[in-house]
Amino acid sequence: MLSQTLNRAARSTRARRAVESIPLTRRVVDRFVPGETTAEAVAAAQRMAATGRAVTIDVLGEDVLDLAGARAMRDAYLGLLDALAEAGCAAGSDVSLKLSAMGQALPDGTAIATEHAAEICAAAAALGCTVSLDMEDHTTVDSTLAIGADLRRSYPFVGNVLQTNLFRTPGDITALDGSAARIRLVKGAYREPASVAHQRKADVDRAYELAIDALMTSDSYPMIATHDPAMLDRAVLRAGEAGRTDAQWEVQMLYGVSPQLEQTIVDAGHRMRVYLPYGTDWYGYFMRRLAERPANVAFFLRALTRR
Ligand code: FDA
Repeated sequence: MLSQTLNRAARSTRARRAVESIPLTRRVVDRFVPGETTAEAVAAAQRMAATGRAVTIDVLGEDVLDLAGARAMRDAYLGLLDALAEAGCAAGSDVSLKLSAMGQALPDGTAIATEHAAEICAAAAALGCTVSLDMEDHTTVDSTLAIGADLRRSYPFVGNVLQTNLFRTPGDITALDGSAARIRLVKGAYREPASVAHQRKADVDRAYELAIDALMTSDSYPMIATHDPAMLDRAVLRAGEAGRTDAQWEVQMLYGVSPQLEQTIVDAGHRMRVYLPYGTDWYGYFMRRLAERPANVAFFLRALTRR
């Protein structure tokens, strides 16, 4: 119930104004968002590299409503890639894009978002960086997968995300087998209707287990994105059974959620990549993190009362 309310609040302008106006929110947000500027994001990437973690960086912002906004987001990513190159940490890094921020919802949005993403891919390719397309709510999945496939024709390093709460995902894994695509597997952060998605956590988890099995035996590059130790144990087991080396799959986690678990993965010699979101537009991202784990709301409230 609480998580449904938070997911609704993540889309509400009124709730957004209320949360943003709380003076201490920024301190709480810092747990999940390492900064508002490109320089802070690059510094966080350098700290991660020093501890054996790669990164995927997300410039926060979604649902851009006009072409100027979409162009500004494209430019923010191009600036980020330049800054990573200047700091000597572009190669091996990844950037995560939301196509809604690239203009996907505008009239003729598929063409606009594809063009913006392609410009980012061209810059990334020159630096040895990869690009992943975040997955948003279920209404965008067909378009996001199609744009991913289109971009991979020129930039094979473009990754897609699949969400195991959606009924369609086993079919999407099968459809992507043969494309050697980078596939990030997540449970799904959006509240979805019962007509398209599992509603019980146990069913989402079971679907995640089966998706790990399917991805590990496919020709995709699996990116197992979870903080769930049982899923990570299964991924290690299935990767071994499928004869994958540690260079043939990776684990991904969100910044600030489980640094200890990240360290366990690094210590075991597996590839570990941390998702680093940054920017001033942190509201939607932050609210989804609260919705995932109602205990975070208590953390939020405690921080607000601790002055
Ligand atoms: P689960 O929710 O079962 O949590 C397992 C354990 O992890 C919990 O018991 C808790 O200990 C800890 N945990 C999880 N979330 C936490 C939180 N917010 N705060 C504190 N502890 C927490 N989704 C999407 O729809 N589209 C996308 O593109 C992406 N991209 C993405 C990238 C990466 C790198 C990750 C790790 C995740 C995403 N997600 C996403 C989010 C994903 O769908 C999912 O909502 C979260 O990862 C939480 O699910 P878990 O797999 O961690 O399992």
